This record gives sequence, structure tokens and C-alpha cells, in this order.
Amino acid sequence: MGATDRGLRAAVYLLRGGGLVAFPTETVYGLGADARDERAVARIYRAKGRPAQNPLIVHVPDMAAAETLIDLPAKGRVAARAFWPGPLTIVAPARARAGIADICRAGKSTLAVRIPAAPLALDLLRAFDGPLAAPSANVSGKVSPTSADHVMEELTGRIDGVIDGGDCAVGLESTILGFEGDQPVLLRPGGVTLEALEAVLGPVRALGIVENAAPDAPGQMSSHYAPGAVLRLNADAPRLGEAWLGFGPDPERGSAISRNLSLTGSLEEAATNLFAHLRMLDESLDYKGIIAVAPIPAEGLGHALNDRLTRAAAPR
Ligand code: TXA
Ligand code: MG
Repeated sequence: MGATDRGLRAAVYLLRGGGLVAFPTETVYGLGADARDERAVARIYRAKGRPAQNPLIVHVPDMAAAETLIDLPAKGRVAARAFWPGPLTIVAPARARAGIADICRAGKSTLAVRIPAAPLALDLLRAFDGPLAAPSANVSGKVSPTSADHVMEELTGRIDGVIDGGDCAVGLESTILGFEGDQPVLLRPGGVTLEALEAVLGPVRALGIVENAAPDAPGQMSSHYAPGAVLRLNADAPRLGEAWLGFGPDPERGSAISRNLSLTGSLEEAATNLFAHLRMLDESLDYKGIIAVAPIPAEGLGHALNDRLTRAAAPR
């Protein structure tokens, strides 16, 4: 569907009928369904092959709508004011009788809520006039989609439509912020950096992916965002037969198939390119080929980039 008024009307019509419509946000494409409709939300899990114990993010257009769904702790409200609309998801106690289908929470007492910033996502939420449950619009465990083509390659035939809004501006999923009492906890690094969160909240406890054996957010399971190829991280240069994913100036790379996340070493540019480049290199390699990846600095968006690369590289 085009991003026209007619396209939006068609999307709303499909969603009201319990359909699944993928739509662009500034992070990645989401696979939307009416969050109040148990059967529609159940279709999301089937279309993605998503484990039933993995809860969903509910998307709303404004703060008033968010506050009807969750009980924000004081620091949650501070973070919401600073970063919504934007690439931040807040996990907080779910309000009773908010009308959200139970399976969105997958048995948890908390609910994940986000106000996206992409104008098309906000237009859709306002036109739909209700909450949309939306995980990333990919098959469970695979690389997230940053274009409508990525969505169609994997989900055509399983969903009812895609709104094509071009490439996503951020390119990595939202940062997920939870709370232990009023203490902020980073559940997933993402489009809002830890440094930016701490500037408004004070210290935020970051859950490392290694010590987190019983994950609270299954996006924290170690193998995730997985291409078919094997990744070799922190590489200086590709070895014979390997593909190369560079960051900053490229080394001598012979005849290796290659892509560069950002020749100038921009983490923002690398974020917008990561998932598309992984898909492209993956398609050009035989199954179980190897992609050597340049080191990415552990600062700013580099935390989220390294998190996704580490999971993509995890044994499975
Ligand atoms: O940028 C994004 O966040 C995208 C766009 C579409 O909004 N969505 C996204 O959704 O990445 P998904 O389902 O692929 O990842 C959401 C993560 C999952 O790891 C899930 O386990 C976690 O959020 N999550 C959802 N509800 C939760 C809850 N109540 N407690 C802890 N983690 C939760
Ligand atoms: Mg996902």
C-alpha cells in the first residue's frame, strides 16, 4: 500500500477487521494488529512463528493514551517526556481494564508501550484511533526489516498489507526501559542511547546479555537477529572466502563481497545500514558462509549495534 490517504484508509479498514498490516516506524517496520482484539493479536504470533511467551509492544499516538495503559513510575514519566515520540519503549505495570488483549502481555503483569516518531506511524495510529500491538515485522529470530521490501520478502501471504514508507530513519529497534520499583533498568539497548537516558534519569542499570540467562525480554535471548551466515566479530580484515562488513575505512579486502556500515565512522549511519547490509551479504553467501565484521566502538549507538551483532553471531 502506498503512504497516501487511500493507503492509510485501506490499512485502517484491514486493521478494524482483525487484519495484520505492517507499517514503518523510525526504528524498524512493525507488524500491527488491533491490540484490543485477542484473535488479531494471536495472528501476529502465528504469522511470525513467535513463541507465545514473548510479549508485544503496544503503540499509541500520545501520552494520554499511554497513561490509560500503564502506571508510569516517576522516572518513567521523565523518560517519556524526554524521548516520546521516539525510539523508546517503556515497560511498566499494566492498568486493569485498559482493554488490551491479555496475550499482548504473554502472562506478565507489565506492559510495553511506545509512541513512535515516524509521521506515517503517528498518522496510522490517529486514523485507526486505537492501540496497535506491533513486534518487528520479520519471522521470529530473524533480522528486523528496515524497508517494505524486507517485510514482503518474509511475510507475503501471511499478512494483509504493508504500508511502504521507504527506509527507516534510525534502523535499530527501540531502547526498552523497565523499572525495579522506581529504579530504571535497560532491558534492550536501542535507538535512544544509554548516555542520553542517563542524562535525564541518572544511573540506569544495564542488563548484560551474558549474565541474563533467564531473559526478561526474549529479545535478550542470545541467538536473535540471526542471518543464515556465521559472523566473525572484531575482525581486522576478511580471510579468504569470507564476506566483509566494514566500519570506517576499509582494509585490503581482496575479492571479498563487502559492504561498509559507514566509511566515515558514523554510528548513526551504521545503525541505518546494519540490517539491510546483513541481509544483502547473507543472500550473497552460501548457507553458513562467514561474514567478518569490523570492530564497532562501544559508545552511543555502538552499544545497540554491538548487541545486535553479538546476538546475530551467537551459536544456534
Ligand atoms: O523498535 C521497536 O521496538 C519495534 C517497533 C515496531 O516498535 N518493535 C520491536 O518489537 O522491536 P519486538 O517484538 O521485535 O521486540 C520487543 C521486545 C521483545 O524482546 C519483548 O520480549 C520485549 O520487547 N517486551 C515486550 N513486552 C515486555 C514486557 N512486558 N516486559 C519485558 N519485555 C517486554
Ligand atoms: Mg523483533
